[in-house]
Amino acid sequence: MTICPKEELPVQHTRQARRPDYPIEQIFYQRWSPRAFSDQPVSERDLLTALEAARWAPSSFNSQPWRFLYARNGDAWWQRYLDTLNAFNRVWAQRASALVFILSDNGDGRSDEAGGTASLDVGAAWSHLALQAHSMGLFCRGMVGFDADKMRQTLKVPPRYKAEMVVAIGHIGRTDDLPENLRGREMPSQRRPLDQTAFAGGFPDQSTAMPNASRSAG
Ligand SMILES: Cc1cc2nc3c(=O)[nH]c(=O)nc-3n(C[C@H](O)[C@H](O)[C@H](O)COP(=O)(O)O)c2cc1C
Repeated sequence: MTICPKEELPVQHTRQARRPDYPIEQIFYQRWSPRAFSDQPVSERDLLTALEAARWAPSSFNSQPWRFLYARNGDAWWQRYLDTLNAFNRVWAQRASALVFILSDNGDGRSDEAGGTASLDVGAAWSHLALQAHSMGLFCRGMVGFDADKMRQTLKVPPRYKAEMVVAIGHIGRTDDLPENLRGREMPSQRRPLDQTAFAGGFPDQSTAMPNASRSAG
């Protein structure tokens, strides 16, 4: 396993290069979530390829509670998707090539066939999606900043499904094209060290300081 030398990272990534504490595959720490997208389109085939990876995520009892609803920039649904986002997210996400809502199937309320883990399972699917997209040279940024009621109404989502997140997907763009207040945040964030995250045995003594925050905000 090689850790990516700084020289191989695109310029805008080098301001805060990520270094894993242990030698993991590069894709885990080189994936990051920009807000600056270029206007280069993502083909439907590439979008479906990323969703194909998501489909192979593990889930409780193989219940596969995920559903994906997507629109591509400029298609008949695009503006309706954008209108569900909050103002903060709409500003930058309007330049993405696609928006994907990830829904969880929470059943009909009578049975608990998924074991109540639908949101957890959908999280695994989102991770597959983001990593597959990264491997294809694409970038994703997940969002919870959207109007869930509006989304449900607009996209005619039945009650048993919950919109867990929406994902902006596209090719990375120029930081300078972002509104000024977002430019300084356009870099890979860091993580809390593993030794403050994973513990052998029981939960560590709370009286000793254990930071909750990551090393750098996202
Ligand atoms: C479920 C979820 C919801 C998120 N919601 C938003 C959001 O509404 N707006 C936003 O700009 N970023 C959002 N993010 C992006 C996170 O802030 C980002 O993933 C985090 O800071 C880690 O950075 P990284 O993805 O570059 O490693 C979200 C990410 C996830 C996974």
